[in-house]
This record gives sequence, structure tokens and C-alpha cells, in this order.
Amino acid sequence: MELKGLVLSGGEGTRLRPITHTSAKQLVPVANKPILFYGLEALAEAGIWDVGIIVGDTEPEIRRAVGDGSAWGLRVTYIRQEAPLGLAHAVLTAEDFLGDTPFVMYLGDNLIKEGITGFVEEFKEKDVDALILLSRVAEPQRFGVAELEGNRVVRLVEKPKIPPSDLALVGAYMFRPIILDAARSIKPSWRNELEITDAIQYLIDHGYRVEAHVISGWWKDTGRLEDLLEANRMILEDLVPVCHGVIDRDSRVDGRVVVEEGAEIMGSVLRGPCIIGKGTRIIRSYIGPFTSIYHGVLVEDSEIEHSIVLENSVIRRIPGRIEDSLIGKNVEITYYHNRPKSFRFVVGDNSRVGLI
Ligand code: DAU
Repeated sequence: MELKGLVLSGGEGTRLRPITHTSAKQLVPVANKPILFYGLEALAEAGIWDVGIIVGDTEPEIRRAVGDGSAWGLRVTYIRQEAPLGLAHAVLTAEDFLGDTPFVMYLGDNLIKEGITGFVEEFKEKDVDALILLSRVAEPQRFGVAELEGNRVVRLVEKPKIPPSDLALVGAYMFRPIILDAARSIKPSWRNELEITDAIQYLIDHGYRVEAHVISGWWKDTGRLEDLLEANRMILEDLVPVCHGVIDRDSRVDGRVVVEEGAEIMGSVLRGPCIIGKGTRIIRSYIGPFTSIYHGVLVEDSEIEHSIVLENSVIRRIPGRIEDSLIGKNVEITYYHNRPKSFRFVVGDNSRVGLI
């Protein structure tokens, strides 16, 4: 069975503001690789090469990062969604691309450790109209939640106050083209979105067969800071150490550490798992576990752990340890040893600064 892929990379990243005021949330790097790339890899691995990417206002940035998809062996078609009007709206927007081919829909901000190959194979073997991916979670009210009878899905609710189960919808779905009819038939929800959960419920209510595949491995919807840091932690756990940069004799490296091309480590301690990006310089500093420092960064006379730093930022002479932080692009954080002691900030809208 020939399948297409539909990757959702539009929408607004309200929960990761201010990082996502200017950038796509799907391009925030986890272990120095944009989240979206993990999804594209998962599709390629599952043998799906004809991929449509739903884009919104951040289209130019997504296009720059993904190009024609050939880096993954994919053929990518960009599909512009006029506004983030819901996952089912995104499916309708892709109608011309999808035609009458069954497809996998993958949410571009989700990270699924085990990939989707087994899920795609199961769909190919089964005679079902939709196959959804579920995972047991601690806070089901934050997700779409499913109620099952055996493998059959009998009810789906989007972000219920009182969840009927702890089975959350993970961001990958398999559909036959009938989902387009369902998406056309539903009305916007309380949050004014055409919900894919409602479209799937429509299929159930009209006698179509919807089944579930429950995963046991971890997955993350990286929409919130704590989830992003956790995803970073999970991916770094499997890091294979390698050094393509320069580490001087005054530096010490413990555990699994990746130093990318052109990076320089001088008089510093790197305690893995951590990754240092291309052309980044770490000088007289400590980089602790679960830290991803992206390209072109300078860390000088500072300590940082369990954090993500994006490209071209500068961190200098910070007296305490930076932790649990997400630092955007081109940010400068410097401590001046002057008197009188004062704080001087130029901080964007919706930023969070914690002086602990
Ligand atoms: O992460 C799993 C959850 O994803 C499911 O449990 C929910 O049932 C499902 O509705 C969805 O919930 P979210 O509220 O977290 O979805 P979010 O708005 O974050 O959008 C998911 C991805 O789809 C994200 O990469 C942005 C993109 N998107 C979203 C909307 C609403 C679009 O491309 N277009 C859209 O209109």
C-alpha cells in the first residue's frame, strides 16, 4: 500500500514564547537537531517519501531548514494553511496533496522515540479506516484522550476536564481518505479549532473502524519548556560520544560528550551527556549533564547544566550556575563586576527571568 505523509508544522507556539515569537517551535533543537527533523527521519524510516508539510507564518524558516527534503530521501511539498484553525482544518487544507491516498499525519512538535515504522506496518496489515497512537500519561487532561473496547476506539475527547482514561493521543495518526469527509462534517470546538479528535469521533459514530496502537516507549509533545528539557534529556541519554572539535589540555571531559566541528573547549569541564555545537567556544566554564549548546555560542567563565542554548548566544561571567533554562538565539547574558550592584535587562515580551 502506497502511503503519503502529512507533517503539521504550522500553528503558533504560544507556550514556548518568546522563543516562538520569531521562530517555528518545530525548529527548536533537541540535542542540537531541530525537533521536526526527528519526525522526518521517522517517516523516511517507515518508507514514506511523498510528504506534505503544513506551514503557517513561519513557512520561510521551515523551507530554509528542510529544503526539498532530499536530505532524508523525501519529496516535500509545502502546503500553506491560512491560519492555525485546527488539525482537521490542516487535513482539509492538504486535500489536493492527499488525493485518495491513505496517509500518516505527524505533528511536527512531537518526538516519538520508537519512530512510527511498527505503527505504519500495522495500518497496512489491518482493514481499518483510522489507526491512532496512544500512550499512558500522568496528565491526560492536557491531551486528546481515548476510551477503548479491546483495540477499538469508542470515544475520543480533546483535553477533557475529567479524563475517561489515561490514554493520550500521541502525535501520529493513520487515515484513509474518508477522514476528509469527516473533517468537512464537523464544527469548530470551544477553542474554535476543527479538532481531529472530533473528526475521528465522527468516523466512529458513522460506523467506520477506528483502532488504537498503544506505545510503551517514551514520546514528548515539546510544546512546554519542561517537556522540551525532558525530551533533550531523553535524546542525550543515547548520545554516542565523538569529538570533531578541539579540546585543550586544561579541559576535562567526563561521560558521553559530543563536540561538533569547529568547536573549541578551553580550560573547561564538560560532564556528559552533553553536546557542544559547531563553532561554539567554551572557555573556563563548566557544562553539566543534559545540556545542548547549539552553533556559534560563546560560554565564558560560567556554569550551565540541564539547559538548551540556541545559536550565536553569549554567556559570560555568570557567578551562579544556570540550570533548567532555554536561552534563545543571539542572546547575551553578562555579569559585570561593577559597583553599585544592579541588574540591567533588555528582555523581550513574555520572557521569564528567574534570579534565584
Ligand atoms: O501532542 C499530542 C496532542 O496534539 C494530542 O493529544 C491532541 O489530541 C491534539 O489535538 C494535539 O494537541 P495540541 O493542542 O498540543 O496541538 P498543537 O496546537 O500544539 O498542534 C500540534 C502541531 O500541529 C504543531 O506542530 C502545530 C501544528 N498545527 C496546529 C494547528 C492547530 C498546524 O500545523 N495547524 C493547526 O491549525
